[in-house]
Amino acid sequence: MTQRNAETSPRRKFRIRWLFYLIILLIGGFAIYAWATGARQEPIETGEPHMKAVVYNRYGSPDVLEVRDVKKPVPDDDEVLIKVRAASVNPLDWHFIEGTPYIMRAMGVGLRKPKVPRLGVDMAGQVEAVGKNVTQFKPGDEVFGGKTGAFAEYVCARADRAIVLKPANLTFEQAASVPIAAITALQGLRDKGHVKPGQKVLINGASGGVGTFAVQIAKSLGAEVTGVCSTRNLDLVRSLGADHLIDYTKEDFTKGNERYDVILDNVGNQPLSGFRRALKPNGICVMIGGGGPNDGGLIGPMARPIQALLLSPFISQKMSMFFAELTKADLIVLGNLMQAGKVTPVIDRTYQLSQVPEAIRYLEKGHARGKVVIIVAQNNR
Ligand SMILES: NC(=O)c1ccc[n+]([C@@H]2O[C@H](COP(=O)([O-])OP(=O)(O)OC[C@H]3O[C@@H](n4cnc5c(N)ncnc54)[C@H](OP(=O)(O)O)[C@@H]3O)[C@@H](O)[C@H]2O)c1
Repeated sequence: MTQRNAETSPRRKFRIRWLFYLIILLIGGFAIYAWATGARQEPIETGEPHMKAVVYNRYGSPDVLEVRDVKKPVPDDDEVLIKVRAASVNPLDWHFIEGTPYIMRAMGVGLRKPKVPRLGVDMAGQVEAVGKNVTQFKPGDEVFGGKTGAFAEYVCARADRAIVLKPANLTFEQAASVPIAAITALQGLRDKGHVKPGQKVLINGASGGVGTFAVQIAKSLGAEVTGVCSTRNLDLVRSLGADHLIDYTKEDFTKGNERYDVILDNVGNQPLSGFRRALKPNGICVMIGGGGPNDGGLIGPMARPIQALLLSPFISQKMSMFFAELTKADLIVLGNLMQAGKVTPVIDRTYQLSQVPEAIRYLEKGHARGKVVIIVAQNNR
């Protein structure tokens, strides 16, 4: 050992010991935080009103979901208690089940396990009770909208949030299929795509939950619509009003001669260069989707939008990702479109509450034709 080493070794040992303590402290802190932010189920007292709900206490595949008895919620002064008649499944649900992209966990969803043990957002049902400050709704009203925990017999929702009266011409199943998918299509085309009458609009993934609404909404905005889907869905997409169809199993729209004012991308299967080729010089590409289950990674479907953000200062076309926001105002817009017969939900399959895992497994395959609906209480009208 040299003289220098002999002098510094106690200091080095001291530093290593403190580094060790720091690592232990960080791991311990992380574990406590993860435990504290994990899901906890409140026990039901004997005789307390209860209901069936889909719950999950760890991340994983749809197998982690269980139907359990949980406390029936009680509305506070500003809430309505809704008896759920139907709910619908969205790719968002599998992101919550898997806890992916992982960045979601750090953003408050729960690091080690889900913070909120309940699943589902889209629902339609009947108001059973209202809080004392609620004036917009009364018991018996038929409503639809979005509330976390929709895969359950009851939900409580604030009356001023995304809950509106159900159009009389819709069944509960149809109304439950609307919120996330139709609002995404509406906000993507109207607010991000700025679609104007006569513009050429391409919907990539025209036969899925968002796509079937998007074709109809783009038509209602006066656009000339091209729907991209597979051979088996050509008739469906044509029946929704698409003016032109591209069968993606035979043709790549990014290699054709047509140029579009707006592309709504529900699939995420094309490189940005492909979108740029298919857009007019001032065209807009609205990216809403991409990345299937088990494809979450750290940032998952955010990789392409980040590339688009970096590219945007250097090009005339606009390409960006957006996240839809469930609003009362837009549910009313959609309700009016459906009341007027301009938009009709497309329902692919229905499942019972106990079959939510099957419904999600089906959606995960990425080939739904319209929406997948959960029937929570029978006698749907
Ligand atoms: N940003 C947001 O706020 C937001 C909101 C809602 C949804 N999303 C995302 O948007 C995406 C779509 O959602 P969704 O509810 O519509 O999903 P979905 O119902 O599962 O849509 C699947 C559809 O995509 C079609 N498809 C698959 N591969 C295709 C391809 N190569 N070209 C064209 N179509 C193809 C399928 O048709 P075939 O069977 O013919 O293949 C199927 O009809 C998801 O990634 C979801 O996470 C984002």
